[in-house]
Amino acid sequence: MTTKKKPKVYITRKLPDAVETRMRELFDAELNIDDTPRTQPELVAAMKTADVLVPTVTDRIDAALIEQAGPQLKLIASFSNGFDHIDIDAAARRGITVTNTPNVLTEDTADMNMALILAVPRRLAEGARILTDKPGEWAGWSPTWMLGHRIWGKRVGIVGMGRIGTAVARRAKAFGLSIHYHNRHRVNPVTEDELEATYWDSLDQMLARVDIVSVNCPSTPATFHLLSARRLALMQPTSYIVNTARGGVIDEVALIKCLREGRIAGAGLDVFENEPAVDPKLVKLANEGKVVLLPHMSSATIEGRIDMGDKVIINIRTFIDGHRPPNRVLP
Ligand code: DGY
Repeated sequence: MTTKKKPKVYITRKLPDAVETRMRELFDAELNIDDTPRTQPELVAAMKTADVLVPTVTDRIDAALIEQAGPQLKLIASFSNGFDHIDIDAAARRGITVTNTPNVLTEDTADMNMALILAVPRRLAEGARILTDKPGEWAGWSPTWMLGHRIWGKRVGIVGMGRIGTAVARRAKAFGLSIHYHNRHRVNPVTEDELEATYWDSLDQMLARVDIVSVNCPSTPATFHLLSARRLALMQPTSYIVNTARGGVIDEVALIKCLREGRIAGAGLDVFENEPAVDPKLVKLANEGKVVLLPHMSSATIEGRIDMGDKVIINIRTFIDGHRPPNRVLP
């Protein structure tokens, strides 16, 4: 009996133990036990020897890197929902299949997105800091102290009504917000009815009408700086913006300017243009209570990461068995 040679799978970051154990059983897996982000030369070396590369959102798999891949590399099975870190056109040119891990992060991301929608107007982070930064100095309740703004009855404008946008809308509706959305296509009438959602063909018009903007579209060349200086200027000075999608969808410099000049009331950001660097001006705004900043953790649940691992494994196994992997990303 001949045993089939296990594919050589190079995984760029530490994954949950259960996922790594399974990867070791199934593949000739090269793991990253201490989770040190891989350098570009290390990635180049991996591309020359591995059959499958498993990158995450922290790896830049650009055309220059893909061009250096050896002929044995046939699959990039990303441990991520988003795939803007991979040049999928360059991969297609080299005949390399790319897969991602959709669906399993939707509810976790929507939960955190909703938490930011609540946290910013209600000054949650600022309030929590009062008790921990200066213990014992709280003078007690006062009728006019730490007042935020009511969420119930306000309008949320969702930019990108895909899976995550829809999951955010469901939560927002339950909190008494009316749902407005802008999307490339109108969603199906059943979903629109369920959410009692208003579709805005014009993003500009929606931005001018809503109290909270929730950014939920993918990062693509078309959505880069979709929330530009001009568009941010359309928002009401009492409005808030929340982003759990990708930093590049908002022009961060323009956003900071609007926040500092009081042309937008506040922001809740889980993603940044130059991650992991965060503009110190945003940190200052957070200390002033105008923004809530999170370190790209909207999808960070143990369950979600295990589900992502399962998807990566299914994509690899299906591909190795000669079939089309379920989560193939097409250019
Ligand atoms: C993804 O997988 O795209 C997420 O942003 C990671 O949390």
